[in-house]
Amino acid sequence: MKNINKTINAIVKETKAIGFDQTSDALVGRFLATLVASKPDAKILELGTGSGLSTAWIAHSMDTKSHLITVDNDERLVSIAKKYLGSDNRIDFRVGLGEEVIDEIKENSIDFIFADTWPGKYHYLEEALRLLKVGGIYVIDDMLPQPNWPEGHDKKVDALIEILNAREDLHMTQMDWATGVIICTKIETDKETNQWNPKEYSTHTAFVSQLALPIVELLNPKKGERVLDVGCGDGTLAVEIQKSGAKVVGIDLSSQMVEACRAKGIEAVVCSATNIAFVNEFDAVFSNAALHWVKDAKGAVESIKRALKHGGRFVAEFGGEGNMKSVIDAIEVVFTKHPEFGEFNNIWYFPSVDEYKKLLVDNGFKVEHIELIPRPTPMNSLAKWLDIFANGICKNLTPFQFDTLKQEVEEICKDRLFDKNKNIWILDYVRLRIKGTI
Ligand code: BEZ
Repeated sequence: MKNINKTINAIVKETKAIGFDQTSDALVGRFLATLVASKPDAKILELGTGSGLSTAWIAHSMDTKSHLITVDNDERLVSIAKKYLGSDNRIDFRVGLGEEVIDEIKENSIDFIFADTWPGKYHYLEEALRLLKVGGIYVIDDMLPQPNWPEGHDKKVDALIEILNAREDLHMTQMDWATGVIICTKIETDKETNQWNPKEYSTHTAFVSQLALPIVELLNPKKGERVLDVGCGDGTLAVEIQKSGAKVVGIDLSSQMVEACRAKGIEAVVCSATNIAFVNEFDAVFSNAALHWVKDAKGAVESIKRALKHGGRFVAEFGGEGNMKSVIDAIEVVFTKHPEFGEFNNIWYFPSVDEYKKLLVDNGFKVEHIELIPRPTPMNSLAKWLDIFANGICKNLTPFQFDTLKQEVEEICKDRLFDKNKNIWILDYVRLRIKGTI
């Protein structure tokens, strides 16, 4: 673009003329242009075209091979952008829903995202971030308080900052500059980190919460108590606990699960079990089906103890010694048979009674209850179980390889775990149930 200032001035004038006051900040525009210039041959996504001010800055520094998709649902504003930028065939203007555009783009294919509207920022965040390549950049602005914020918007902003900050796949910098810019770079993460889809999870694994009601009983929450739910998932059990009149705060490493939990009205934050950001705050710590994901069990127990008030209790259930042995052994057999799948890494922690009792006692807990409970668990599809729970350890497999793994694991396990008469899988769950006090 030859004369960026001329284009910007013309767009600003026309935007004001139609009474639209949310024009982008010029500092942010220059900042976007500087970043985009670092990405030759880039695939760029702008969520929220508006009248095209940021679009103009992005286009200004894009090289000839780069391509920008920009979307907005306000046709009137986009028509201004198109008037000044429509002849640029590197730009694909869309009028419609950001969510639909996000859904149509391939994962790990985008080098740069500027999210300046709701989808891809305050909702559909996970879906948008999935599109970014490693090394890709995600930018948002308007994160500093502004007079035109609707009531309660500050809470949404704080929650978004917290979620971005806690993500292991992003390096984030928050700047008290211009309108409040946040810039994140996507980084390679531990390949085994499981991805959670709250809808899939609640559809196929409702048993996780239903079968956990005895632990809620063991917790015996009381009105006025504060309970921390470690690995709160979609909040189903937190809702159950709150029926007692106790107040629950949930923590989970998955931002999707934290969002789902908040949607049920439960206070929840993204936080790891080994680094709980609360000290001396809770009457009880509760955890169901989460602690077997935490290999650093000592770190988790220390962190849980720190979060408890003096006299507080820790009540939990998770996979214990022998849990899902048939399935996990079968996964290992399949990985060994296919060296091209890479190395199998058992990421789960299934301790024995003695091992966990020692851990609790060594960390100052009095163990009031500890037992290992075999709990054969019906599941319609073992392949679906693998989709939900083994996607992390299979992250390096191609979709075809993952399908092969699922078929071969089913084949190996079917004699032991498939009930032909009832046409159902009975998975060999074993639970470790504990109660400790300090
Ligand atoms: C469990 O709940 O026991 C479990 C879940 C995922 C992987 C392994 C075990």
